[in-house]
Parts: sequence; C-alpha cells; structure tokens
Amino acid sequence: MNKILKVYLENDYVGDLIEKNGQRLRFVYNENVHVDISLKMPHAIKTHYHKVVYAFFENLLPEGNILELVAKSKGVSQNNPFSLLSVIGEDCAGAIHLHTDSPSIEKTPREFISKDDINHIAINKDGARIVYQKGNRLSLAGAQDKTTVIIDNDEFYAPNFSFPSTHILKFDNNYYENILYNELFCTRLAATLNLPVSKMELINECETPYLLIERFDRSKNGNTIRRLHQEDFCQLLTVSSKNKYQKEGGPSFKEVIETINEYSYRSASDTLMIAKILVFNVLIGNCDYHGKNLSILHQTRSLTPFYDLVSTVIYEHISQDMAMAVNKKYNISMITKKDIITEFNKWGINGERMLALIVNDFKHIIKNAHELSKEEVFSSKQEDISKIIKFIESQFKKIS
Ligand SMILES: Nc1ncnc2c1ncn2[C@@H]1O[C@H](COP(=O)(O)OP(=O)(O)OP(=O)(O)O)[C@@H](O)[C@H]1O
Ligand SMILES: [Mg+2]
Repeated sequence: MNKILKVYLENDYVGDLIEKNGQRLRFVYNENVHVDISLKMPHAIKTHYHKVVYAFFENLLPEGNILELVAKSKGVSQNNPFSLLSVIGEDCAGAIHLHTDSPSIEKTPREFISKDDINHIAINKDGARIVYQKGNRLSLAGAQDKTTVIIDNDEFYAPNFSFPSTHILKFDNNYYENILYNELFCTRLAATLNLPVSKMELINECETPYLLIERFDRSKNGNTIRRLHQEDFCQLLTVSSKNKYQKEGGPSFKEVIETINEYSYRSASDTLMIAKILVFNVLIGNCDYHGKNLSILHQTRSLTPFYDLVSTVIYEHISQDMAMAVNKKYNISMITKKDIITEFNKWGINGERMLALIVNDFKHIIKNAHELSKEEVFSSKQEDISKIIKFIESQFKKIS
C-alpha cells in the first residue's frame, strides 16, 4: 500500500513523497516544476528513489531525546521518518514543508503564545515536550531542547504550514551547564573575527534564560514571511542524521570541500570559510561540529551563516573527539599545527599559506575574548567563560 505526503517548497506544491508498504520511500516531482528540493535530487529527473530520498527527509527531523518524545506524544514510530513528517512536517529547516494528502489545505490561523507560556517552557527545561504536547507540528534537526516561533510585533505565535517560523528558541538543560551562555559567547566571538553567524540574543526575563536566534532561512517582505531553502551536508552527502559523525560514516572536511566544489557558486570563498571555521573550532574546542552544523542556502548556492558554535571541551563528561577529523586525527588535544596544514593541503590548497592567513586574521581572538567576557550578560558566568578563554589561549599558542 502506498501512502503520500504532499511536498511544498515555499508556497508551491512540488511533488509527492511516497512510502511503499511502510518502508521504501520515493519522491516524484510534479510536471512543470523547475526547482530542486535537494541539489542531490535535480528536478530534471522526475522520480528519485529510497537512499537519497530517505537521507534528505530523515535529516529534517529532530534527533535524540526530542525525537523519542515526539514519536511517543504523536503515537508514531521514531524509526519511521515518513510517519514522523506526517505529524510534524509543517515547518522545517529551509523552504520544505509537508502536508498529508488531503484535498484542500485550509489556512490555519497561527496560534498565539503568551510570554508566560514561553517562560514556563524555559523554566521547566523541557521545552520540546511542552511544545509538542500543545500540538505544534514543527520539525527542526538537532538534539538540544528547542522550538521555533513566529515573532511579530514583539508577540510570539506558533508556526504552522501556512505561517513560517522566524526564530529558534534554545532552552537550557541540566546536562551541559551554562550552554546557552557558552553558545552566545562563542557565536559573538566568531562575529568579532568577521565570521558570518546566526544573530542571537539571550533573553533573561524569568529565572531561566533562553536563546533567541533569528532564522537566516526566512525573509520578510512587508508582513509576509518567506521560507528560503537550505540543506545541510548530511543531506548533501546522503548520510542519515544517525551517522552524522565522521567515525560513523558522516561527512569529513574533505567531503564538505568536494561538495562545495561541486555545488557552490562561491566555492573559493566558501572553502576559505570552511578553513576558518575549522581553525575557529579547534581554537574554542568545539568537538561537535558535524555535517549537520553546516548548510548551503539554495538561493545564493553558498554557505549559510555559521550556527551551533559551542566550546564542548569545557564539559569533561563528553567526548573530546572532533566530529570531523583533522588530518585523520579526532582527539582535539592531539591536533597540531602540522595536522591543520596537511588537512588543508588535502583539499588542494596551500595549507601553510592558508593557516598563516587565518592566524593573522584571528590575531585578536584572545583580546576580543577578554573584552567580550566583560559584557554584562556574561558577568555571572565568569568561571565557564574563563575556561573557554584559557583553552583558546593554549590552542592559539599551538597553531600560531
Ligand atoms: N539561525 C538559523 N537559521 C536557520 N536555521 C538554523 C539556524 N540555526 C540552526 N538552524 C537549523 O537548525 C538545526 C538545529 O540547530 P542547531 O544545530 O543549533 O541545534 P542543536 O540542537 O544544538 O544541534 P546539535 O544536535 O548539533 O547539538 C540546524 O541543523 C540547522 O538546520
Ligand atoms: Mg547542530
């Protein structure tokens, strides 16, 4: 038996996601469609089959505990992306959104969310559970507790099929202490080095703060919000989110560069950006930078701003292995200046010259980090912030 989900790109119905006998997936473009839902599924070929289709759609789903929770609360299997997207595919990363095969799609009004509700979610450190129990049908990758909202005239609303979200809210959790401050600090530090990053602020109106992150895959025209299409490097390399770490078959830096060479309209500047983010992550100790933390925006066919920049090394209970190896080395403490140069050489660029250029570009990183740490928002988190700065100082010595 076949089940069908209608696939929309922005406002256009572009084709059907078809599940056969509860297992195999295929995607069929409608006639007269001239856009690609994935660079790996060009519209010139009308039907695409399981492997690439599964990887593309499965990567739209949340991961880890959040996935488990969604599956339980919606009564579907957490191993069935088709069933999951039938219940939560109304607002995803990029311009894709899905709808069950009903004859007409009513424009459902967006639901108001009070500030008290948002604070309640933040305080409970259990945002995803509350959001999904409220019946929201959004899907965003990643394992951290978060949700998406529309912010309009300073009021919050729940996104749905017709109304795209504009912001991501990330909530605190007990497992990674002060992670929101950590992400804010690392992101702002990256911005001081002129790296393009997600715009974010920390909202601290109740006892538990949350991060408010502006979506870069949305644009505003008057009062109308448009979805802009993006896809991550697991989608681009046909890897399931379950294998996102290089050790488990996930993308490597070299494959990211090859993909950029194949698809990006700005391959030279995107390669430079990947080299810079590699060095930045080695400096701040971000070991969790896997293929889903990098994406390409279809409109410009170039990298999106950087997101999910966190110093993971300050959490001693989690792995110190990089998600993507540098010259085949995973453990961050083993990665040397020579490894970075050799890794760059493997991409077909002059490694020595590239690293020298980046080190020069980042020469104020320590000064910038100290200055940033003095900002009011970080005043109560000096212990963790200074751990990050100390790590940067020792890493910078190693690579410069
Ligand atoms: N500013 C943004 N605009 C649009 N999409 C974004 C933005 N930031 C993140 N995303 C999308 O949301 C997904 C989840 O975001 P993010 O990686 O920050 O979450 P996470 O739960 O911390 O992830 P992880 O499981 O890697 O720790 C990303 O993979 C990306 O597709
Ligand atoms: Mg992520």
